[in-house]
Amino acid sequence: MIKAIMNHPRIAPSVLSADFSHFASAVAAIGAAGAEWVHLDVMDGKFVPNLTFGPKLVADLRPQSPAVFDVHLMAYEPENLAEAFAKAGADYITFHAEALVHSHRLLMRIRSWGKKAGISLVPSTPVSALEELLPFADLVLVMTVDPGFGGQELIPGCLEKIQKLARLREERRYGYVISVDGGINESTAALVREAGADILVAGSAFFKAPDKAVFVRHLKGL
Ligand code: DX5
Ligand code: ZN
Repeated sequence: MIKAIMNHPRIAPSVLSADFSHFASAVAAIGAAGAEWVHLDVMDGKFVPNLTFGPKLVADLRPQSPAVFDVHLMAYEPENLAEAFAKAGADYITFHAEALVHSHRLLMRIRSWGKKAGISLVPSTPVSALEELLPFADLVLVMTVDPGFGGQELIPGCLEKIQKLARLREERRYGYVISVDGGINESTAALVREAGADILVAGSAFFKAPDKAVFVRHLKGL
């Protein structure tokens, strides 16, 4: 089995499934549960059929939490949005390879702001579409549902992409972490971990969990 970079994955609860009138308490609950990352899903109503929030939310939450802020842009023209999220205090800024032409340029720009640069794929895009970009990515986000909504079921065929990315990283000594997003819960987490994921994003399952600290430990495989 190809190993993930870290022994136990980090958990990145997505505030997409939080009560939108209480973001600050959602972020506090994430920290209290032992999750080190907060996943922030930005949707533009065009790339995906849903709308969420902009950089002001990230800026307002930033002083409330020491967590790693993991911004996932599901938006066309991410090159016009990324800098505002960098200024707002994002740590990782991930955009979709399907959403623009000049992905390499944007990865480089994100790094030039002192941020970690991530690239993501929807389920229908193969890993091979990223081949030339992998040396320049700090994070690769594998979507395991069609993005746009929380609460969908993981598409099992996407697990192979995690394995491919882990294999390529090992063979070519790349430095990205592999993050997985969509349909992650207590039943699917082990499959994703075994495939080689370093970061597990969980939205609806985290916010539904009666004991969030236990949920986070289960997801980590502890
Ligand atoms: C989906 C988002 C996800 C979402 C995951 O478009 O990118 O981050 O919050 O939600 P669950 O864990 O409910 O599938
Ligand atoms: Zn996401």
